[in-house]
Amino acid sequence: MFESKNKYFGRKKGKSFVRLEHLQNRLKLPTKKIFENILAPRVLEIGIGDGEKISEDAKNQDHINFIGCDIFADGVLRAIRNSLDHNLNNLLVFHLNIQDILPFIPDNYLQGIRVYFPDPWPKTKHKKRRTFNDELVEILTKKLTKNGFIHFATDNSDYFLKALILMKQFNFQLTNIRPDSWKYNEFNALNTKFEKKALDKNHNLFYFSVLKNY
Ligand SMILES: C[S@@+](CC[C@H](N)C(=O)[O-])C[C@H]1O[C@@H](n2cnc3c(N)ncnc32)[C@H](O)[C@@H]1O
Repeated sequence: MFESKNKYFGRKKGKSFVRLEHLQNRLKLPTKKIFENILAPRVLEIGIGDGEKISEDAKNQDHINFIGCDIFADGVLRAIRNSLDHNLNNLLVFHLNIQDILPFIPDNYLQGIRVYFPDPWPKTKHKKRRTFNDELVEILTKKLTKNGFIHFATDNSDYFLKALILMKQFNFQLTNIRPDSWKYNEFNALNTKFEKKALDKNHNLFYFSVLKNY
């Protein structure tokens, strides 16, 4: 398995790993060629978690090519299993830190980027571990095409505000964003594992969708 030089502090394997372990030989390492061969529209999801959301979306939206990554092995292997079970040719997932994939992704390449419930690291001394930070956003902005979008969701209000400020700094179009449009409702439900967990805990949920219109 690929050993990342980029530090990560979260969980790397879960209970389902033993059942999915045999799929490890299907894991791919990123290369420039792999990305050159993926047709637009392309959507990158950072932190696919249990791998079900990206698999479901790839199944239901076969005109979009989905690229996902996570450091958590179970979800990546589950997405591989789902893509084999359902013959999905539009889903490619990497068991890697996003930082290890970015050097292979061409500039002006992605039509969309999704970051759903990134690890919140709520303690002040841990906030520097957050994935969605200025360094990452600077690179992601280059990878997006004109009119490319970023979708972001969290149940941590501090993370949400910091992310929104970053979007403003990088000149993303924030029109249509009003406080009441940030709240969860049945129409913006993502149905990811961590969204469900947050709902069970009665947390407030916050979402934004912004456009790079330059
Ligand atoms: C709180 S979980 C949310 C998972 C999923 N998006 C959801 O909504 O259920 C955050 C996920 O992001 C992954 N993650 C954290 N930092 C990452 C990074 N730098 N690159 C790739 N994945 C990362 C974690 O391993 C974890 O699976």
